[in-house]
Amino acid sequence: MARIDVDPGRGLFLLSTMRTSHVVRVTSTPEAEDALVGTYTGPLVDLDAAADIAALDVPDWRGFESTLDGREEYPVAGGVRFGQPALAVRHPDGVRSVEWRFAGHRVTDEAGGHTLELDFADAAYPLRVTVAYRVHDGGDVVERWANVTNDGDGAAIELHRFDSGALPLPRRDAYRLSHLFGRWGAETQLQRLPDVAVGETVLTSRRGTTSHQANPWFAIDDGTATETRGEVVSGALAWSGSWRIVVRRTENGRAQVLAGFGHEAFGPYRLAPGETLTTPVFAHLWTDGGFGGASREWHAYARSHVLPRADEVRPVLYNSWEATGFDLDQPSQERLAERAADLGAELFVVDDGWFGSRTSDHAGLGDWHVNRERFPDGLGPLIERVHELGMAFGIWVEPEMVNPDSELYRAHPDWVYHFQNRTRHEMRNQLVLNLARRDVADWIYEQLHRLLAENDIAFVKWDMNRPFTEAGWPGDADNPDRLWLDHVHNLYRVWDRLRTAHPDVAIESCSGGGARIDFGILARADQVWTSDNTDASDRLVIQHGFSQLYPARAMTCWVTDVPNFLTTRDVSLRYRFHAAMTGVLGIGGDLSQWAPTDLAQARELVAEYKRIRTVVQLGTQYRLSAPGTGLTAVQYTSADGAHTVLFAFLEGGRFGERPAPVRLAALDAAARYRVSGDGVEERELSGAALFGHGLPLDLRGDHASVLVHVERV
Ligand code: GLA
Repeated sequence: MARIDVDPGRGLFLLSTMRTSHVVRVTSTPEAEDALVGTYTGPLVDLDAAADIAALDVPDWRGFESTLDGREEYPVAGGVRFGQPALAVRHPDGVRSVEWRFAGHRVTDEAGGHTLELDFADAAYPLRVTVAYRVHDGGDVVERWANVTNDGDGAAIELHRFDSGALPLPRRDAYRLSHLFGRWGAETQLQRLPDVAVGETVLTSRRGTTSHQANPWFAIDDGTATETRGEVVSGALAWSGSWRIVVRRTENGRAQVLAGFGHEAFGPYRLAPGETLTTPVFAHLWTDGGFGGASREWHAYARSHVLPRADEVRPVLYNSWEATGFDLDQPSQERLAERAADLGAELFVVDDGWFGSRTSDHAGLGDWHVNRERFPDGLGPLIERVHELGMAFGIWVEPEMVNPDSELYRAHPDWVYHFQNRTRHEMRNQLVLNLARRDVADWIYEQLHRLLAENDIAFVKWDMNRPFTEAGWPGDADNPDRLWLDHVHNLYRVWDRLRTAHPDVAIESCSGGGARIDFGILARADQVWTSDNTDASDRLVIQHGFSQLYPARAMTCWVTDVPNFLTTRDVSLRYRFHAAMTGVLGIGGDLSQWAPTDLAQARELVAEYKRIRTVVQLGTQYRLSAPGTGLTAVQYTSADGAHTVLFAFLEGGRFGERPAPVRLAALDAAARYRVSGDGVEERELSGAALFGHGLPLDLRGDHASVLVHVERV
């Protein structure tokens, strides 16, 4: 059970989760009247131990330094401080400094968790800040956020930086940073920096969206953690717009991570009198279970506290994009639907090209009415056919965008982000609608609401195929940079309204592949499109990065055609299926071209997936061997431990050698398990043998794969 303990006399606030504690302290120092210092993040402690730690944490003082630098949970620009501020403001009279006083705290007990709020009020200006933390029963994630309020009745206060918070870490000999970078078709690649530079390392998106290039997540350790053991601190920001995470390594050996929305050149945000602005949640956890332990904590958190309907198993989908591109009509979709149903697909999704004049990526975005040349009687007959075939129907949309060649743009050229006297540069021939405008957001909602009300649609793939550029809003001179935040807030509002009005519709977040994957969107998405790169071998790398914090339950994977359109790689159907079966299985190939033998094999593999998907989607994941080592091995185990599935993939095997036996995780040493699978000798083995020796796998050559079932007898 989580709990919050407070010792007002010593200014100590102790946040405890199932296995960990996070301690913060309000204290006075020569540099600032009241400061919020982070004292401890680690295994459970009580208030006395927290006080001991606070007493030991006396920083060395040197000239030209502030003892607060690197130690605060919410450093403000003000007082004697030289580090990155979490909060930087400018008052109407030009004063650019915060001097706050601690104004009290509140602890709220809710079902399943507890919230601590710490109030700070500026000594001379009408500025109030609340730093809030939440702990949930049953997990080790600590959430935090901040509210800032302009209590005045005069002018706006400019917010130049307003982070969710800072996480200070103690002095250690080294700090290794793990983070995710990428590009289109190459998302969520894991990079570990052996010793993060003294200075500031900035992970960021300046694109208005989460981005392919970086994902708002980090893990930090002292360089000794492994996949299975060691201390790891990891954090993530729940935000789908521009964001910034700064990892500071101080000159005296500490580290501090600041996380928040917006990027450097963003702002200022003008906080109007009476207005309160709330940051997104910055969540963190501590574990001594290594990188794998940290990932499992994130997966559990995502399923317990982020994803809607997380206990629901996601269906096998077919998506026609790679098969037809923009060349689609009712008969061709029906033919694909028949084949998809025959393979065992449960959801048939029509992708881009069904609406307006959208016969290529040059026109039609924004015109959300059915193209009658392609679907003469609307979508109804296709949907009916899909239902007859026993599948649900899904559809692709990209509501935040417009092609200049569209009815929408001709009617509302002012609805896009732009600056006067400046070019409206296009990317993929499209511009971004100003969703920060309430009328545009309402219009988008109405388009989707009508589409879902008029058609029996069970699934929406919501795409977003370009970042922001020239993000101006000529009508909003009062607060021109609010659009970076309001776009995302209004996007969330539209999704929330849609989910309320159409509770049975599932939504997939897509952004040119995986450019909008974060805990903010996952709070209102059923699954996410991981990458437009569907090459099974590359996917293992992308999925390895994805799995650092996001669960398999949310990860959409398609089996597509070979040679792969992007990489030209040609791998077996079985390998492609196995790679896609490690998440939410989908099929995206041109089934009209598949040979009967392929269709037969696919039918069997879909059926096999359905037998194991509860374990994959709702079980616990163990990364036994990472891509890059030659062997990628991933294990999923059901909550009761009775069912385990193991996927193993060999890349570039040599000399006919088999890989080293794979040592399964988390089995009961004393129990016996029946091991079976295609190409695996069926037999019974003890948990002790499966860990102690490991399971030998007959994998040789290039792109060989195996799926092993391990059932407790
Ligand atoms: C993006 C998506 C693809 C597909 C196309 C359609 O690239 O990621 O899956 O939907 O748009 O234009």
